[in-house]
Amino acid sequence: MKEEKFDFGLVGLGVMGRNFILNVSENGFSTLGLSSSKEKINLLREEGRKNKIDATNSDENFISRLELPRKIMLLIPAGKPVDSIIERFLPFLDKGDLIIDGGNSHFLDSNRRYDFLLKKGIRFIGSGISGGSIGARYGPSIMPGGDIESYKLIKPIFESVSAKINNEPCVTYLGPKSSGHYVKMIHNGIEYALMQLISEVYHILKVVLNYNNDAIFKSFKKWNEGRLSSYLVEITRNIFNTKHKENNKYIIDLILDKAKQKGTGKWTSQNAMDIGINVPTIDSAISMRIISSFKEIRENTSNLYINNKEGKVDILEDDLEKTLYFGFIISYIQGFLQLKIASKDYNYNLDFESICRIWRGGCIIRADMLEIFIDILKENPNFDHLIQNNYILKIISECESSVRKVCKNAINSSIPIMGISSTLSYFDSLKTNKLPSNLIQAQRDYFGEHTYERIDKKGSFHTKWE
Ligand code: 6PG
Repeated sequence: MKEEKFDFGLVGLGVMGRNFILNVSENGFSTLGLSSSKEKINLLREEGRKNKIDATNSDENFISRLELPRKIMLLIPAGKPVDSIIERFLPFLDKGDLIIDGGNSHFLDSNRRYDFLLKKGIRFIGSGISGGSIGARYGPSIMPGGDIESYKLIKPIFESVSAKINNEPCVTYLGPKSSGHYVKMIHNGIEYALMQLISEVYHILKVVLNYNNDAIFKSFKKWNEGRLSSYLVEITRNIFNTKHKENNKYIIDLILDKAKQKGTGKWTSQNAMDIGINVPTIDSAISMRIISSFKEIRENTSNLYINNKEGKVDILEDDLEKTLYFGFIISYIQGFLQLKIASKDYNYNLDFESICRIWRGGCIIRADMLEIFIDILKENPNFDHLIQNNYILKIISECESSVRKVCKNAINSSIPIMGISSTLSYFDSLKTNKLPSNLIQAQRDYFGEHTYERIDKKGSFHTKWE
């Protein structure tokens, strides 16, 4: 009897992989996993026993049991492991088979893999997947890039397993080559920025307003019921309500203040500089994760300097809500600007409104305020800078004075606010008609004869400085 083939293969049965393959099989597709771990294979068989699901530890067996053209997704650590799996699989693959890299790969690696596989007749999709392990199981946001014909092969599966908002799947074809991984990288940059802003607001609530964890829980709860409603505000609310089962202490107070990172946020900043734009809220978020890792230096320095408290506290909880809203809006704006410039530089031809739509569900940066961006981007897909949009102008004007007050209060209490203050300075620089950069030009010309442009005549000029 002819053996029945599987619709979908998945490599890597870690938590993400296992959850994703279970999600695919529960949506009616037969699935086969590949893992070198016997325990993971058994666990998958056990958890998926009601569906058509199996797993193996042999490459050849795995590949021979998949339906043609094969649809193989990799959910393994980014970097070398992806290249080595591709190398291992190549001898067994047929022309037209599709490999999907669903990890957080660097977009330049995805370009390289796409070109390499194209020459071998193998299709390649680089796809961001967001939502963590729960998202993978019950509906992530999926950001695929590659050829549209390749996408069509996986579209039915991706649309079935993704999160849904008003029945719309949170997945769409984004563009050629590495565009999917690029969009995921920007997603993560924004994720870092929002997390940093939230953590600064937590610091201010705690130290300036003297809120205890219960009061902080209530603030985030209230905010999540309003215009700040978002996944990150929601989980922050829950964090301030979670106690250790054994000692009844808040878990948040037991966690060491050293934030780790895997690098995707850093890539966003690095790439922003490469393509000549600035994303200071994202940069600050990375910078603060780095400072946080220097725990010993911070501890020792804190014994040398006093944390001064100056002036009277004159902010209310509501000012912090406005600050967070302002910061969130500007973080998305920075991300969209980077997407816009990259879309042109890398010929991605991105549709920003669609990106907003698929970010509304499943992913870490999902937020009600994305609806605002959908409307704005629909009307104005070729925006210069979203800060100039009338609706954004209204929001910012309403929040601005609170943000300034919050910054003053935080500075008076020696609270680091790199995220909030850099966001405010970003906004201030965008609306400064005359920056002091004329002085930088004069200095460059002074020490290096780099020349400068003038406001009254065209051309480049050099002065013989004193
Ligand atoms: C997601 C997340 C995820 C990310 C982790 C950890 O969209 O589900 O962005 O992909 O890798 O949250 O990221 P860091 O370790 O860099 O904080």
